[in-house]
Amino acid sequence: MRTDTGEIIHLEDYRPTDFVLERVDLTFELDPSETKVEARLIFHRREGVDARAPLVLDGDELKMTSLLLDQDEIPSANFDAADHSLTIRGLPETAPFEITITTELSPQTNTKLMGLYRTSDVYCTQCEAEGFRRITYFPDRPDVLAPYTVNIIADKATAPLLLSNGNYLGGAGMGDGRHFAAWFDPHPKPSYLFALVAGDLGIVEDTYTTLSGRDVALKIYVEHGKEARATYAMDALKRSMKWDEDVFGREYDLDIFMIVAVSDFNMGAMENKGLNVFNDKYVLADPETATDADYANIEAIIAHEYFHNWTGNRITCRDWFQLCLKEGLTVYRDHEFSADQRSRTVKRIAEVRHLRAEQFPEDAGPLAHPVRPVKYREINNFYTTTVYEKGSEVTRMIATILGADLFKQGMDLYFDRHDGQAVTIEDFIACFAEVSQRDLTQFSLWYHQAGTPLVTASTSYDAGQQTLTLSLEQMVPPTPGQNIKEPMHIPLRVGLLLDDGAEVTITGVTGAEVTGDVVHLVERKQTVVFSNVPSRPALSLNRGFSAPINLHFEQSSEDRAHIARFESDLFARWQALNDLALPNLVSAAASAKAGLPVECDAALVEALLAAAADEALEPAFRAQALALPSEADIAREIGGNNDPDAIHSGRQQIMTAIAAAGRQIFTTLVERTADTDAFSPDAASAGKRALRNAALSYLVYAENVPGRAVKAFDAANNMTDLSQALTILAHRFPDAPETTTALATFKQRFAENGLVLDKWFTIQATIPGSAALARVKMLMDDPLFNGNNPNRVRALIGTYAFSNPTGFNRADGEGYRFLAEQILAIDARNPQLAARILTAMRSWRSLEDGRAEHARNALREIAAAPKLSPDVSDIVERMLK
Ligand code: PHE
Ligand code: ZN
Repeated sequence: MRTDTGEIIHLEDYRPTDFVLERVDLTFELDPSETKVEARLIFHRREGVDARAPLVLDGDELKMTSLLLDQDEIPSANFDAADHSLTIRGLPETAPFEITITTELSPQTNTKLMGLYRTSDVYCTQCEAEGFRRITYFPDRPDVLAPYTVNIIADKATAPLLLSNGNYLGGAGMGDGRHFAAWFDPHPKPSYLFALVAGDLGIVEDTYTTLSGRDVALKIYVEHGKEARATYAMDALKRSMKWDEDVFGREYDLDIFMIVAVSDFNMGAMENKGLNVFNDKYVLADPETATDADYANIEAIIAHEYFHNWTGNRITCRDWFQLCLKEGLTVYRDHEFSADQRSRTVKRIAEVRHLRAEQFPEDAGPLAHPVRPVKYREINNFYTTTVYEKGSEVTRMIATILGADLFKQGMDLYFDRHDGQAVTIEDFIACFAEVSQRDLTQFSLWYHQAGTPLVTASTSYDAGQQTLTLSLEQMVPPTPGQNIKEPMHIPLRVGLLLDDGAEVTITGVTGAEVTGDVVHLVERKQTVVFSNVPSRPALSLNRGFSAPINLHFEQSSEDRAHIARFESDLFARWQALNDLALPNLVSAAASAKAGLPVECDAALVEALLAAAADEALEPAFRAQALALPSEADIAREIGGNNDPDAIHSGRQQIMTAIAAAGRQIFTTLVERTADTDAFSPDAASAGKRALRNAALSYLVYAENVPGRAVKAFDAANNMTDLSQALTILAHRFPDAPETTTALATFKQRFAENGLVLDKWFTIQATIPGSAALARVKMLMDDPLFNGNNPNRVRALIGTYAFSNPTGFNRADGEGYRFLAEQILAIDARNPQLAARILTAMRSWRSLEDGRAEHARNALREIAAAPKLSPDVSDIVERMLK
């Protein structure tokens, strides 16, 4: 049974509102259980709209105590307040009018964390996508833009800080123990960008002088005592502001920019105008408590939210179907930022790993949807890796196809033309078509067709003609609701490497448009001939992952090893190592399943160890080279009938073989690169730690005793090394007394630090093997587990389901049954959190029959529950379809 109406929203039904919202004036009288909100909304009827048309506003779980039209009570015959809407009739034909709505809220019982809620005694809001309607009745859609005035009244002792969007107007005490503050945001904005924060918080302050010389006050608010852990975030913010000026010519536009870190948050962070709200996980860092990955995430997410000020806030989405307009583009911008701040190659490798691990399975399963969907039932379920990461890749392909100069011109045109508007993907693409004079109609299919394209390639070399012929064929697999697909415009960067590693200059190509090193694949089948190729080259295809595709290219191990050694594009070297490893891991899984000995390819071992030992390469790259494709990567390559235990066992045996062959190299790397310097979170230092820890993990495989990891644990002077050592201990020797001791030490040392405790839960939730379930259940009984804190729930239950393939996919199905129970329990409090964790089961159909049957039954159990949120019911029904 469903508790929502189950209504599906279609893009084609879009039409503008009947009424134009001119201004918003909000007054909040804050109280944990009885907050009063008065919303004064000035509207006028849009030209051409029927004079009798009513005003229809959105609402969700609201208690309305008064409703006025131009300060007079509206007679009950003139309005209907339903569950999800408020309809008002008898409104002026042309003149502007003021609607005043008073509602009462209970922030402290709001466990959905949407609308106004409490987190650690702080009042906080989250409005994207449709949370504002939980505060007051409102035209809660992104194409309704207005300036906001916000008055906040609260108890002065417990809420000395009163914040909202825009610039501070003033405030004062009120004599009754309360005080007030007023804010005005002059930039018209949609309701999803509204924010209010009130409470008692510590502050880190700085200033930034913009391109045109304006001073902006920068403030990051955190819990008292945590101020020192916000300095890295502040530094990242200033670098982001500078980068957006330098690279995109975008300047900040208010006198103040604020970030508030809260410990209860459904997502990563939120770009509310001038007042970003962050999951504190993406703000707080110091060497003792944050890993290098945490630092990199903080830098990226601070940048992401800041960049939204132009791509999202100044130019916003016409409707939620256009979500990728702001998210895909902003992810692209934050990726480029991180690439400029760190190693571009290593950043690209991380992006592609992430895309393959998260987006490819989504695109290949029941939840697949286009980057720009045309229908949805619950918009919260479309904050997906397809909209974000594939959306970013599509933007990157525009830059690849147009080249840097035209891409920049297209972005400039977009900012110029659409500033202050709520627009569509078509508006965005039109800017690039216009500046480049290219027809981007076929390219736009990337926004409309779901599924990862599969490109099959083969080559033949003609020594007499000195030509290399490349045959390409593309296929986009069917996805829910889209059975037949058109061929796409796929930009493939290529390199032709000769025996000595030199690259062939690309000239005189027939059969495809070629720009620079980009081959444009646009037909279903295309034969491309490169001339003046003096000897048979190794072809490096899809360099830099220029297109987000699956590639089937029968290439010899020798060619792959050659590319791994000589490609000038370092990403392509990493890819070649991956391509060497993957077939070996697939056959290892088959051998393990059949109980046969696993064989490790000598070419793989040699190439991997050569990269690991190559002092000419940056350590972070070498660490990436050593990280074999994950168990999920192997499962995806196998495609179906997967047995996670066999995949795990095969991969373990390959790791062991590499470890044995490289023991000397790994020993040297561990012992020589020991960190004696003071800690620094910069990318180069992080790279050294990554290489040492990768080597340590192999070395422990080779030695098969916990000694080295215990030593590393005891010697660690930073969280990266400490948590890596603990992970190795827990995953390799879960029952060893050394592990028990290390886990206890860790827990005790960080008992006061929620974010570090999350790591303690995560490390244990990801210990492979069927004992994981009992361990997770036991950890749920730990007094430190807190089912109301989203980070903690994700750390334990989320990582168990997402990141423990053998532990979760137990052959007896107990993992799925456990998850079904947990999803129902979480759903009762926080539907968004429940729905997101449930997507861990999105690839259930690619499991072998026995497991798939158990998974289906668990999903059916969820679907049959008496009371389900729209969020969970939407996901579970799509997964079962
Ligand atoms: N818009 C946020 C971002 O990506 C994500 C978000 C969505 C946060 C919905 C909260 C709710 O930057
Ligand atoms: Zn975003």
